[in-house]
Amino acid sequence: MSTQLEKIQELIDKRETARLGGGEKAIQKQHERGKYTARERIAQLLDEGSFEEMDMFVTHRCHNFGQEKKSYLGDGVVTGYGTIDGRLVYVFAQDFTVFGGSLSETMALKICKVMDQAMKMGAPVIGLNDSGGARIQEGINALAGYAEIFQRNILASGVIPQISAILGPCAGGAVYSPALTDFTIMAKGISYMFLTGPKVVKTVTGEDVSQEDLGGATVHSQKSGVAHFAAEDGEHAIQIIRKLMSFIPQNNLEDAPLVECNDPIDRVDDALNEIIPESPNRPYDMYQVIGAIIDNGEFLEIQRDYAKNIIIGFARFNGRSVGIVANQPKFLAGVLDSNASRKAARFVRFCDAFNIPIVSLVDVPGFLPGTGQEYNGVILHGAKLLYAYGEATVPKVTVTLRKSYGGSHIVMSCKQLRGDMNYAWPSAEIAVMGGDGAVEVLYAKEAKASEDPKALLAEKKKEYEDLFCNPYNAAKYGYIDDVIEPRNTRFRIIRALQQLATKRVTNPAKKHGNIPL
Ligand code: HXC
Repeated sequence: MSTQLEKIQELIDKRETARLGGGEKAIQKQHERGKYTARERIAQLLDEGSFEEMDMFVTHRCHNFGQEKKSYLGDGVVTGYGTIDGRLVYVFAQDFTVFGGSLSETMALKICKVMDQAMKMGAPVIGLNDSGGARIQEGINALAGYAEIFQRNILASGVIPQISAILGPCAGGAVYSPALTDFTIMAKGISYMFLTGPKVVKTVTGEDVSQEDLGGATVHSQKSGVAHFAAEDGEHAIQIIRKLMSFIPQNNLEDAPLVECNDPIDRVDDALNEIIPESPNRPYDMYQVIGAIIDNGEFLEIQRDYAKNIIIGFARFNGRSVGIVANQPKFLAGVLDSNASRKAARFVRFCDAFNIPIVSLVDVPGFLPGTGQEYNGVILHGAKLLYAYGEATVPKVTVTLRKSYGGSHIVMSCKQLRGDMNYAWPSAEIAVMGGDGAVEVLYAKEAKASEDPKALLAEKKKEYEDLFCNPYNAAKYGYIDDVIEPRNTRFRIIRALQQLATKRVTNPAKKHGNIPL
């Protein structure tokens, strides 16, 4: 064999070795744990044959604890770029078969390199996490590596979309990288995220808790809100990423992909004319409204199982991506509380950062009262949503279906928060508060003095409701641009979005605002 061919063979051999990561045994163990390897995951994520790997020959530089004798090509993370539906993305996938995917100095450098490249190119970064945390043998250098990644997460925030899938352990400070990214997808059964594991919890607080109950996908998608999606397994998590990508742009200077729309834009839905129950206290399902008005009923819901009193997610109108924010009367009567406010605020900010118009569907009786909420800082959390809507410069279309009372009316993208087109259904009640509360305040003394307080309050309530609990009082002042027939809602929203496509609004120059965190 010629020297040239020998050299080429050497390359082929090295590549083969690198592709085996921690070796066949470790791969087998990974499969036994119910997990795919880093390379298998990348193959599932990217368009077939599109992956170009970078830094395959990087190895760690650690000489502590005999590490110099244990070294693997690629060192614990597979990095590179490829396409999803033909669009460029950068990817890093931690390789649990190499030192448990633990982060070394060189691994951090590899991850930072793809992040820097993604920033230069204006393309999303997708991280597939499966790691035992900082590589213990590398001490402070591993910590420095994490900090380098976090710094890049921060600078990339609002410039390129960042998506994290948690497909194994993600513990300690390592959790902060996914937390800084835009969307976190956890796979049920194989993933967990926590700052301190069950053993430390037991030592410090005496609490006995399993990994799953402390930081599994169910916990973070239902209780903490840390995870935006709880996938059934690793493969499903990757499918969610691909779907999510279809709704979002490459960067903050571009629009989301335009999809051909075969759902008639003037499709009316007569069922919407009858969806609001006669009794104002009876719920209906906001999902039915969403499904009826968006293109082909295709809705990618985010944080489905967290703060269910508000619904957020991506949909399309006439092929264009929008973010939907909708109160859900079926859960806690659609009331706003701390968690619902935080959930919606972050979503509104994502949409605004990435040029995705926001459609808000309003049926909100107010903020949830009580010490539980007040002690929890509902004032600040509600202010987050208010801030997010008020700051947003993307097209904002609001449709008030039924209740829209008091502070929650203002918060939910009202006209004065620069709502571009604000519509209401004839069933809308836009007022300071509902009839019961209003007469309690206004006629308490009269009721006490009356022979028939019930009758008096009922009469005053009717008077109040006739005057205020309708859309026309707000429309009279131009706070509502039009009262629309429910069945025409899809068409009216599409028309509004078409009109707003060229919207140009900028906020005053500043370093950054001070959102009430
Ligand atoms: C070096 C590690 C490692 C780590 C795992 N390994 N974690 N090597 N540093 N942090 C190695 C193991 O020694 C083992 O090597 C291989 O990876 C697989 O690990 P197993 O323990 O066999 O796997 P499993 O039973 O599935 O358990 C996974 C695990 C456990 C739960 C992640 O390995 C574990 O508890 N690791 C330590 C987690 C930790 O405390 N990390 C540091 C957190 S502090 P061999 O050679 O036997 O196959 C931190 C600070 C970050 O991360 C701060 C950022 C700001």
